[in-house]
Amino acid sequence: MTEKTSTIKILPEPNIHGLFPTPVLFAKFYRDWTKEEKEFFDETAKNTTHNTGNLTSSNRYVLDHPAMKEIRDYYQFYVNYFMEKVYAPKNDVEAYITQSWMNYTKTGQYHHKHAHPNSWISGCIYVSTEREKDRITFYNDKYHRLDLPTENFNTFNSSSWWFSVGTGDIVIFPSYLTHMVEQTTSNDTRVSIAINTFLKGYIGDEHSLTGLHLQEQDKSAPQRTEARPENLQGGY
Ligand SMILES: [Fe+2]
Repeated sequence: MTEKTSTIKILPEPNIHGLFPTPVLFAKFYRDWTKEEKEFFDETAKNTTHNTGNLTSSNRYVLDHPAMKEIRDYYQFYVNYFMEKVYAPKNDVEAYITQSWMNYTKTGQYHHKHAHPNSWISGCIYVSTEREKDRITFYNDKYHRLDLPTENFNTFNSSSWWFSVGTGDIVIFPSYLTHMVEQTTSNDTRVSIAINTFLKGYIGDEHSLTGLHLQEQDKSAPQRTEARPENLQGGY
């Protein structure tokens, strides 16, 4: 309104800073999938469970398979990159991959709105997506005291924001950040590998009464191989 009616000249243009923004990393896997990786994807797709609007692999540790080693290494590299650039921890602390699973969203299906509890950083790598049609949508869950409708959306005034995603894209984001996939219109099944992570090492500090020394979880715990009940709704 002011801009349209004012005769006041402001030089230089004022700056509006985005203070305390939410980090979302986009990167790209450097090559096409190998024969071994494709075989693993095909094999994994044979065993799925129902999620709310799509399907999830029954295998909840897909990146533990030897055929997934390089994908896992790249994922870990970008998780480390995110840790360094975003959090820059003073002490020796690392985010390591805990669970990893595949998502299958067929034409007309969707991936319900969710975040990833019990995880620090989450991520997604797209095995098969159509960049012109496939998106990931993130949500701002902060309570809005006043709702001012706009037609000029930006990252300050929007409650959601979407990005196009193509095959080979890697997205890394804080696990608290709510996201979803709208009903898909692409002809092929949208396939992705998702990860959760947790911290190991020294976080906080003893003087502030926040000190924690965390070790990597024991993956040999027997419950990790338990099947997920078919009738369990929700999930990630
Ligand atoms: Fe997710």
